[in-house]
Amino acid sequence: MMLLLAVLCVLYVWSPATLIGGQGSSTNIIPRKKVPLSSNGGRFFREEGVWNYTTMLLREDLNMLILGAREAIFALDLDDITVRKAMVNWPVSEEKQKGCSIKGKDATNDCKNYIRIIHKRDDEKIYVCGTNAFSPTCDNMSYVNGELKLDNKQEDGKGKCPFDPFQRYASEMVDGELYSATSLNFLGSDPVMMRSTGEIIRTDYWFNEPNFVRMAYIPEGKSSPEGDDDKIYLFFSETAVEYDSLFKVDVSRVARVCKGDMGGLRTLQKKWTSFLKARLDCPFPNIKLPLLVQDVFQLCQDDWTTCVFYAVFTLQLDSSEYSAVCAYKIEDIKTVFSNSKFKTPVTVATSFVKWVMHSGEVPDPRPGACIDNHAREKNIHTSLDLPDKTLQFIRDKPLMDQAVKAIGERPLLVKTGIAFTRIVVATATALNGSSHQVMFIGTKNGSVLKAVNYEGEMIIMEEIQLFESSQPVKILRLSNSKKQLYVGSEVGVRQLSISECGRYHTCQDCVLARDPYCGWDLNAGSCSTINSTHRTRTSTVIQSLSDGDASRCPQLGGSKPVNIWFIHDNTVKLWCQPYSNLAQVHWKVNGKPIRPSDTIQILSDSLMILNASAEASGYYTCSSVERKYEVQHIAYDLQMLSGSENPEPIHDLKEKKNTLVAMVVILSLILAMLVIWNLYKGHLPLPCCHGRVKDMANRNVDESLSASQAQQHKVASPTVNLNSNHNYANNQRSSISRETDRLSTTVDSSGQISLKYRDDESEI
Ligand SMILES: *[C@@H]1O[C@H](CO)[C@@H](O)[C@H](O)[C@H]1NC(C)=O
Ligand SMILES: *[C@@H]1O[C@H](CO)[C@@H](O)[C@H](O)[C@H]1NC(C)=O
Ligand SMILES: *[C@@H]1O[C@H](CO)[C@@H](O)[C@H](O)[C@H]1NC(C)=O
Ligand SMILES: *[C@@H]1O[C@H](CO)[C@@H](O)[C@H](O)[C@H]1NC(C)=O
Ligand SMILES: *[C@@H]1O[C@H](CO)[C@@H](O)[C@H](O)[C@H]1NC(C)=O
Repeated sequence: MMLLLAVLCVLYVWSPATLIGGQGSSTNIIPRKKVPLSSNGGRFFREEGVWNYTTMLLREDLNMLILGAREAIFALDLDDITVRKAMVNWPVSEEKQKGCSIKGKDATNDCKNYIRIIHKRDDEKIYVCGTNAFSPTCDNMSYVNGELKLDNKQEDGKGKCPFDPFQRYASEMVDGELYSATSLNFLGSDPVMMRSTGEIIRTDYWFNEPNFVRMAYIPEGKSSPEGDDDKIYLFFSETAVEYDSLFKVDVSRVARVCKGDMGGLRTLQKKWTSFLKARLDCPFPNIKLPLLVQDVFQLCQDDWTTCVFYAVFTLQLDSSEYSAVCAYKIEDIKTVFSNSKFKTPVTVATSFVKWVMHSGEVPDPRPGACIDNHAREKNIHTSLDLPDKTLQFIRDKPLMDQAVKAIGERPLLVKTGIAFTRIVVATATALNGSSHQVMFIGTKNGSVLKAVNYEGEMIIMEEIQLFESSQPVKILRLSNSKKQLYVGSEVGVRQLSISECGRYHTCQDCVLARDPYCGWDLNAGSCSTINSTHRTRTSTVIQSLSDGDASRCPQLGGSKPVNIWFIHDNTVKLWCQPYSNLAQVHWKVNGKPIRPSDTIQILSDSLMILNASAEASGYYTCSSVERKYEVQHIAYDLQMLSGSENPEPIHDLKEKKNTLVAMVVILSLILAMLVIWNLYKGHLPLPCCHGRVKDMANRNVDESLSASQAQQHKVASPTVNLNSNHNYANNQRSSISRETDRLSTTVDSSGQISLKYRDDESEI
């Protein structure tokens, strides 16, 4: 009872209000740049009528991406996924579909063949499995003479591939043997981890409503001083047994088996003798409830001891979006499995079973250990030689007492407001030769975050929108040789480069991004992808990753101001969009900071002057400050358009209208002259109808406007102004883009002139 009290820990979640904005550990890391769907320019693949592009195999040897979708498998060019090299259909038979819908499944969605497993078997064969209308089936496939071909010698896929296309699963092919973790039955209620080549070896009742996530092969046996075996790790989440809690709590786990495991002789016949599992902890600031693992990426620099698992986690309440990335050293996981005490079930109260630390004796050889030199000394050469005592122990107590802790015992990245779904990690070599791990994280909102952690400092460089925000990222693959990412969703696949330095426009932008792939090349005057040439001639390239020091950037001379004319009492909008979401925008007029007032509004992308009067005239500058570096983005010379030398405020609406009418007349005269000139020049055929003249007149208004733009003069067309009667709701906009750069002018029907400093990436 004391024990019960001691371990009684009621789990609870802090209210969201206390979660956000905690001192020093802000969880809402803002992406420095957002790249919208319209401008990312990535390559996109989808086949008409085909959905669910969620299984991939990279074949760098064949320069192909093998892509599994619903009832179809594609071979795409790794350099350009829009190039389809081959395709094979694998539909369900009518009979299978009928059987499936009779059992109560939805015929149009569930009773289809979702390709779920694609593994390289050997150089010729690819092993594929599909759900096949709740009747999982596998086949060999080959790519010969530019064609994908299924062998059509289908075999049972039970335990390899899920029945239910909505259920998570994991698998790995190791030396031609398939390891899989999925459900073994139609109902999805019989979870199993198994090796299914030759003699099937599987788990006993060691899972508790699991959600399988990923498997990883670690070839430890190659260089093990203890003569230890290769291992297959499994990441998943399941219902916890180690807490007292009023409600169901899930936890993340890592489990492992030994590759050479052949099961026991009497006890654990055809079952793993080496299955061990431990809790995987990823602490989120101020949250007590365990986070659940969603995906894992294995990054090994050298031999297996350098391997690190990067995992994405989300909070287990559907309503809240708290996400984190934690990393785990393989050595730390191994230490828990080799040294931790075990947990054992005890019955508390009358029926409640709780798992607590086993403090009794542990048999030798250690339960769950692979066959190593120590076992061999005891004349145990395979798992079939293991004593019953060891096997009985591990059959009943596969759970470790100790949990696996994340590197540094804290996450590499935390974020609120978005759910992470997938992760891959690439290693970037910086200008000074140091290595940095760059995380690419898929989200539920159809985007990929590009993030780094510099000695504890979390940075999201970009959020790149790849799909509509309703389409979660379902698979992420990285090709290190191509430096490309392949991102799959239910609706299609996108390919993107791991670095797009061209998205950083200025030296400050490039350096402050702190992207290890990019540096500002002073010679080229552009943000370049760091290569070996740059590393030898460091003086011409600027990069500052840990400090974000842009002081070596050349000072930009104040740009020539853009002249803007406005009409009294109208609204003037001056655009200014900083390159970075982390920058603060500062507006000044005639050198003095502008404070918001009744008539002046400072918006995130612009300055708005309502009912502008003569006092609004002046020299406006917009600059942004990021990490103490101030950059002037644009300057405007704002002047009121007036007939007289000494403009007087016009209060009388009638008088104003008269002025405007006069201007219309003048403009019309100019237009008429232009029309006549055109006629004279033979640009317009005779006789011309009324409509044509009007058309022409309109075009000439545009032309005269662009002509004045060329001199950087923006004049509001009074015609436009008259028509609208200051109706701001009417927003038929005519927009003229300047040929030179990202500046664009917009004149809308309300007579509102706007000059927009358009950032390609941030314009929706
Ligand atoms: C397949 O894609 C369709 C279309 O996006 C979606 O409605 C369906 O839920 C997907 N099926 C599975 C099993 O994910
Ligand atoms: C696939 O090929 C392997 C060997 O390459 C063979 O053992 C296996 O039986 C084949 N499976 C099917 C379904 O044809
Ligand atoms: C992601 O989508 C959810 C709901 O669709 C929305 O509430 C949230 O703001 C989005 N997050 C981001 C960062 O766009
Ligand atoms: C490195 O990039 C520069 C351009 O920034 C290019 O001129 C040079 O050829 C590249 N060097 C290598 C080895 O790719
Ligand atoms: C290279 O730069 C990184 C990050 O700015 C820094 O941590 C590291 O010490 C530097 N390495 C060398 C060899 O200068």
